[in-house]
Amino acid sequence: MAEFWKPGSEKPRILEDEEGGVLFFSSPYSSSSSGFGYSSIEKQRQRLPVFKYRTAILYLVENHATTIVVGETGSGKTTQIPQYLKEAGWAEGGRVIACTQPRRLAVQSVASRVAEEMGVKLGEEVGYTIRFENLTNPGVTMIKFLTDGVLLREMMDDPLLTKYSVIMVDEAHERSLSTDILLGLLKKIQRRRPELRLIISSATIEAKSMSSFFSSSRKRQQDTGEDCVPRTLPAILSVEGRGFNVQIHYLEEPAPDYLQAAVSTVLAIHDEEPIGDILVFLTGQDDIDAAAQLLTENAQNRGRHSSGLIVLPLYSGLSRADQDLVFSPTPKGKRKVVLSTNIAETSLTLEGVVYVVDSGFSKQRFYNPISDIESLVVAPISKASARQRAGRAGRVRPGKCYRLYTEEYFVKEMAAEGIPEMQRSNLVSCVIQLKALGVDNILGFDWLASPAPEAMIRALEVLYSLGILDDDAKLTSPTGFQVAEIPLDPMISKMILSANALGCSEEIITIAAILSIQSIWVSGRGAQKELDEVKLRFAVAEGDHVTYLNVYKGFLHSGKSSQWCHKNFINYHAMKKVVEIREQLRKLAQRLGLAIKSCEGDTQVVRKAVTAGFFTHACRLEAFSQGGMYKTIRSSQEVYIHPSSILFRVNPKWVIYYSLISTDRHYMRNVIAIDPSWLLEAAPNFYQQQKPNQAAHGLI
Ligand code: CDP
Ligand code: MG
Repeated sequence: MAEFWKPGSEKPRILEDEEGGVLFFSSPYSSSSSGFGYSSIEKQRQRLPVFKYRTAILYLVENHATTIVVGETGSGKTTQIPQYLKEAGWAEGGRVIACTQPRRLAVQSVASRVAEEMGVKLGEEVGYTIRFENLTNPGVTMIKFLTDGVLLREMMDDPLLTKYSVIMVDEAHERSLSTDILLGLLKKIQRRRPELRLIISSATIEAKSMSSFFSSSRKRQQDTGEDCVPRTLPAILSVEGRGFNVQIHYLEEPAPDYLQAAVSTVLAIHDEEPIGDILVFLTGQDDIDAAAQLLTENAQNRGRHSSGLIVLPLYSGLSRADQDLVFSPTPKGKRKVVLSTNIAETSLTLEGVVYVVDSGFSKQRFYNPISDIESLVVAPISKASARQRAGRAGRVRPGKCYRLYTEEYFVKEMAAEGIPEMQRSNLVSCVIQLKALGVDNILGFDWLASPAPEAMIRALEVLYSLGILDDDAKLTSPTGFQVAEIPLDPMISKMILSANALGCSEEIITIAAILSIQSIWVSGRGAQKELDEVKLRFAVAEGDHVTYLNVYKGFLHSGKSSQWCHKNFINYHAMKKVVEIREQLRKLAQRLGLAIKSCEGDTQVVRKAVTAGFFTHACRLEAFSQGGMYKTIRSSQEVYIHPSSILFRVNPKWVIYYSLISTDRHYMRNVIAIDPSWLLEAAPNFYQQQKPNQAAHGLI
């Protein structure tokens, strides 16, 4: 059982006999920053619900190895708790307070907010690290925001994470793959570092199951009364929210098209409801851009009536300038409509939202270990998510939430909770990370939620075929260790390593950088035809990867010109990012001792390198009907080339895809044409493992 402590019921005793600066109850005005506008920020900070619990939080963190903080979104957990810890001295003596987030955009956004509140320059006392971007100053940075994935990576160099005094694992209710792995490993670290403090915080956590995870299989420690030994039983603190009432509206009949329904709901709100911003939950960049397009067109057609509507998208990969627009205050007399993925569900707070439109869907990763297919699927959200989304409407005053589904559906069909990512993901990355951290018995790892054994077996099989694990399921040297060191999908890493041997690493790191970006094309915006025509300027029959090489070359040739991008429907910000990431990969490749060589236009070796990493994604054309039906070699699953691919309608006999997205069918995105003999070359044992009839089916 966890220990509960109710703030307000009784003051923690340690307040009275505070000694040796263990707890440092400074007035909130004594923090390090000063200057113009300071007091108004300070007042804002004190108005946040979490402020009332400042003393309690510090007390619990001092006395418990693990503290679980549950509180509504917007109550101040992420931005305030790290500051309280700093004010209380947890960052003294060169120690660092870490706060993890599952999402990159959230890391950047909260870090810059906290730097602003503290009146410091981002990257100094307050910094952040996300993959390929490190804005910290070692020795100066006291509060560091980072993704859970980056913290996992840091363990490779520093397995006990010794520089951190407190690690706050935020948004734990999201149960991202990295969060789950991290929690399992942190539990191990705690045993070796009793002085380390963990804070697990989230909006809707099932606090008790998290708490029992952290109290289980430990030696019960007697409370000796010594101050320096924290209690091992986790404490749970619930921060009362201050949300206003939110009126829920349902559809009478299910909507055939949620996008259309979302757009007309927004227009209806704009026509009929008093001023206040609208937050619309959609699933991804594609439907957000489509909805933005529809709203803008509608506003134009309706003339003055719909003026005053400012339409803004919000998804990861947005440029900093676009992010800033979303967070800046709405001009007087205007109404903001933010079209967002579920990033605004709990990780980010938008001020001024009074109306929420909930499509009932989000894009989720699903993995089926039997078919070995992982894809992104637009899938129904859970009741817990729906409640979170509705809550976003009650931040500033009573609000309204329009659910684009029926009440009956909500009550009877929606699942109560989402499934942790651990149980719906391909585990290849997870296994390799644990192996690299010396966790050999992966099935016996202390999981918060156990992954399916089939998924684990599949992952081991793939890693073995990739030459990353040996017969004893240990990392191979050097390949396995090198792959573990590259902060990318192991298949991408293997592709980079193979390119070294094939003499095309210049090309392959460009491809790797581009694949790590959602899309380099400017999306639709009603100009699909022009976009398709423009793509043909770069297109080559070998497929998307090789086409990207042409785009990259053209971009460099133009002197990295934004005009050139605009003319060619290419996303300038995405290309700038590609250049940055590419540079990081080049440095990394050099560190690994790889030679950076160009194959000078020999696209065959480039495709061979891709095959060496992605042979598990090989497919063969089965029928020209329905626009070209392919089957995966591995499990005979029907797949189709996505319309965004250069090879859509080209339909080469043999292809390899980078990722799948599933709607009515499984669609392959980023596709390359290959020769089947390369598969045997790349992974003889993988294809030998096929049953005889499958082998005949696939490769003969
Ligand atoms: O983590 P939690 O959801 O509990 O709250 P938070 O992210 O710490 O946000 C607390 C408050 O800070 C919000 O209500 C916002 O008013 C403000 N905030 C902001 O203005 N800009 C940001 N980028 C982040 C937070
Ligand atoms: Mg937060």
